[in-house]
Amino acid sequence: MFAIKQIGRFCNKGLIRNLQTTAAVQHDALFVHRDTAEDNPNVEFEFTPENQKRIEAILSIYPDGHKRAAMIPLLDLAQRQYGWLPLSAMHKVADILELPRMRVYEVATFYTMFIRKPIGKNHIQVCTTTPCWLRGSDEILQTIKCQLGIEVGETTKDKLFTLSEVECLGACVNAPMVQINDDYYEDLTADDACQILNDIKCGNKPRAGPRNGRYAAEPIGEPTSLKCEPPGPGFGVRSDL
Ligand code: FES
Repeated sequence: MFAIKQIGRFCNKGLIRNLQTTAAVQHDALFVHRDTAEDNPNVEFEFTPENQKRIEAILSIYPDGHKRAAMIPLLDLAQRQYGWLPLSAMHKVADILELPRMRVYEVATFYTMFIRKPIGKNHIQVCTTTPCWLRGSDEILQTIKCQLGIEVGETTKDKLFTLSEVECLGACVNAPMVQINDDYYEDLTADDACQILNDIKCGNKPRAGPRNGRYAAEPIGEPTSLKCEPPGPGFGVRSDL
């Protein structure tokens, strides 16, 4: 299916894209760190007093000798505080966990949830994996690109939006969907995508979840399965049951 998807993209005039159409577009470039003005070891990073209390609470979960297991929660905390994950935040986490910095680099560059360059206030992640693609994610992505005037991997001039293309976000039953910061917007049409972006631009928080009237992942309309009492064990195997 993946191959068909890619061939279709190559065959459709106007839809020609790189063979690699995934999160790698955003994250490939920073597997090797290069000092920049905004990301170098001399940039100051300190957890806020509030987050220091959170760190104590997180560390208390893990027994002595296993504190390194708190690395991902601590990196996530640093990213939420700073907006993205600079080198100096990684160093701070290494100091707290008393680990070599390399151990932190390994984790922070492996998981695409960690953003290693400045991004906009709203990080839009459009899923284009097969179920979302079959349900129209190309149109959603195109609509967002047109409305914001940016390509995948870019940030709007007002620093309000950054656009990424990602693999399955685990909400396939509500395809097509996008994630914006911590919220999922599901069962989308192109109009829904426009509406969501307009709401955010106006300073409102759009309602997260399905946009087609569903509460969650139930069938639209009547149930399609499990409509009667399920037969017991042995059904169809033993004539006396
Ligand atoms: S394919 Fe888009 S959420 Fe799974």
